Amino acid sequence: MKETPTLTEYGAAIDAQTMVTPPDVTELELEPGHPGQGDEAYIQRRKALFALCRKHRLERLGPPLIEYTPEETRIWREVSPKLDELHIQHASRLYLDAKRDLAITRDEIPQLRCLSERVQRETNMHLVPAEGALPYRTFYEYIAERGFPVTQFIRHGSHPEFTPEPDMIHDCLGHVPPLMNRDYAELLTLIGKAASATPHGEQVLALKRFSWFSIEFGLIEEGADTKVFGAGILSSTGEIPYSLFSSEVKRQPFVTDVVITTDYDPSRMQDQLFIAPSLPFLRRELEALVRRFGIPVL
Ligand SMILES: [Fe+2]
Repeated sequence: MKETPTLTEYGAAIDAQTMVTPPDVTELELEPGHPGQGDEAYIQRRKALFALCRKHRLERLGPPLIEYTPEETRIWREVSPKLDELHIQHASRLYLDAKRDLAITRDEIPQLRCLSERVQRETNMHLVPAEGALPYRTFYEYIAERGFPVTQFIRHGSHPEFTPEPDMIHDCLGHVPPLMNRDYAELLTLIGKAASATPHGEQVLALKRFSWFSIEFGLIEEGADTKVFGAGILSSTGEIPYSLFSSEVKRQPFVTDVVITTDYDPSRMQDQLFIAPSLPFLRRELEALVRRFGIPVL
């Protein structure tokens, strides 16, 4: 029997097969050190949203309408204006245009059901309710079908500017706006199709890194400027200035062969970033990679 290769992810060895057949998490797990640990009301709210969103995801019901609490609205009103100021200065043009068209306000938490309908009209993408971060390949299987998984819970109020896991501020203010752009939607769905189709764990990991350093934590050139492109940066008031100006960050041109062999640590601020010249460049690089891997999705 052929042995499955061992890969390195987040600094540790993993079995390549786990990239292809990821585990399913069926219950809410807050990691040690999560700001919500010990807050019983927060945990109960998260459990309720976990069950509701998981049911809607698995039964393909679309995003449920959520009645947000005053505390959740308070957190949104605290974080979203700060992000908005930073976006105006530092986000890519593609992102700013899309955010304006979606009319996401600083005052009210948007209903994902409404955002999904709007995005669908524009690019034929839709939003899939997710109970939490989904394993990479599960996540991209939805994207291959033009569905973007999004959470509907909000971070803990004790640390409004920090979340150890993707929450709806990350999703609504990071991932959802660019889905309004057709070229972006095509780039994303191609990653999804390739990651879902390949039987090779090392190729899934390479595609995961390609999306991490572009969709999630990418920078992009705009004229003489470097702008923020990735959702992970766009949804963090700390990470936007850090990514562009910190001397601790190594910024280098986006070279696919370097990107797909670069490991990263998702639990901390990113000190290694890649700058893509443009969205069409990323598309060409991705198509070349998918062809080189021999994945029959083009
Ligand atoms: Fe993300």
